[in-house]
Amino acid sequence: MSLIEQAAKRLAQLRSAGVEVPGAVAGDADPRAESRPVEAATEAASKSRSQAAAAADLKRQRAAMASDSPLPSTGAAVSRRIDLDLNALTASGLISPEAPRSQLADQYRVIKRPLIANAMGKGAAPIKRGNLIMVSSALSGEGKSFTAINLAMSIAMELDNTVMLVDADVPKPSVLKMLGLPPSRGLLDVLTDDSVDLSQVLIKTNVETLSILPSGTQHARATELLASTAMVNLLEEMASRYPDRIIIFDSPPLLMTTESRALATHMGQVVVVVKAESTVRSDVQHALAAIESCPVKLMLLNQARTSTQDGYGYGYGYGYGYGGYGYGSDSA
Ligand SMILES: Nc1ncnc2c1ncn2[C@@H]1O[C@H](COP(=O)(O)OP(=O)(O)O)[C@@H](O)[C@H]1O
Ligand SMILES: [Mg+2]
Repeated sequence: MSLIEQAAKRLAQLRSAGVEVPGAVAGDADPRAESRPVEAATEAASKSRSQAAAAADLKRQRAAMASDSPLPSTGAAVSRRIDLDLNALTASGLISPEAPRSQLADQYRVIKRPLIANAMGKGAAPIKRGNLIMVSSALSGEGKSFTAINLAMSIAMELDNTVMLVDADVPKPSVLKMLGLPPSRGLLDVLTDDSVDLSQVLIKTNVETLSILPSGTQHARATELLASTAMVNLLEEMASRYPDRIIIFDSPPLLMTTESRALATHMGQVVVVVKAESTVRSDVQHALAAIESCPVKLMLLNQARTSTQDGYGYGYGYGYGYGGYGYGSDSA
C-alpha cells in the first residue's frame, strides 16, 4: 500500500471513528484527466527579452544590491521590480514562461487546477481564505520550495490569475536563491518594523502576474514571528487587501516547528509535499494530524517513480499526484 493510500486509509479511519475531518473537496475520480491541451491557449505569452539582456539586468541588480547590510529596498511605498532570468529558470529545471509546454509545466497544470478552483470559490464548497495556500511537508528537503515556486509560476502563467509567492520558511529561506535573486527585505521586516509596509518590500517581476515577498532580514526570533499576532494581522491584511490574488506560502516543515502548524491554521488550503519512497508513513500521518483544522489539505507526491514515455521503459522521473481528502483514485 502506498503512502498516499495509507494516509487516505487513516483519514477514513478517523472519519469512521467520529473525528471530524473537514474540507473534503469533490474532485474528478482521476485528477490527471483534468489536464487538457486547450489550456495552452491560456498560458501567458513569454516576454520577448533576449537571454543576454536578461542576464545583464540580473548582473546589474546583483551588483546594486550586493551590500553588506541592511538589505535593500526602495523605502518608497511602491513595489520594486526585478527581472527573473527566465532562461536560467528553465535551465535549473523550474517552470518558466519560456518553456510553457515542458513535462513539468504539464504536471503542474493538473496540480494547480483544484487549488485555483478552491481559491476562486469555484470548488464544491466556499472556502474561507481559499486564496491563501501553504506548501509544507513533514520534514525538510522534500520539495516544498521547488513546489511553491513551480506552483506560483504555473498559476501566474494563466492570464487571469495574479500570484504572490511568500517565502515564509524564515529559518531556511531559499526562494530568492532558487530564482537567482539577491537577498532582499521582506516578510520579517514587515513583522518587526511597523514603518515597513508590505508594498515596500514586495518584488514585482517580469512575469507580470507574479510578485514575490522574500523572507527578509534574518531575525533571532524568526520562527516565533510566524506565530505572532503581527503575522496573524498580516495574513488578515493579505487575504482582504488582495482577495483576487492567489498567495502561495513556502513554509518550514510541519514536524520541526510548532510555528509552521500555527501558520497552517490561518490558511485556506495546505499542500503537504511527500517525497516518494523517502518520507516515512508515520511522519506523513503526524504532518496531516498537525494541520487537521485546515479546511483543505492536499498531499502531493513528489519525485515519484514514473514510467517514461520514450520507449525505453521505466526510469526515474518526477511524478506528481494528489492523495487523500477526496482527490484521486487513492482516496476512499
Ligand atoms: N520534483 C523535483 N524535481 C527536481 N528537483 C527537485 C524536485 N523536488 C525537489 N527538488 C530539488 O531537491 C532539493 C530539495 O528541494 P526543496 O524544494 O529545497 O526542499 P524543501 O524546501 O522541502 O527543503 C532542491 O535542490 C530541489 O530543487
Ligand atoms: Mg525550502
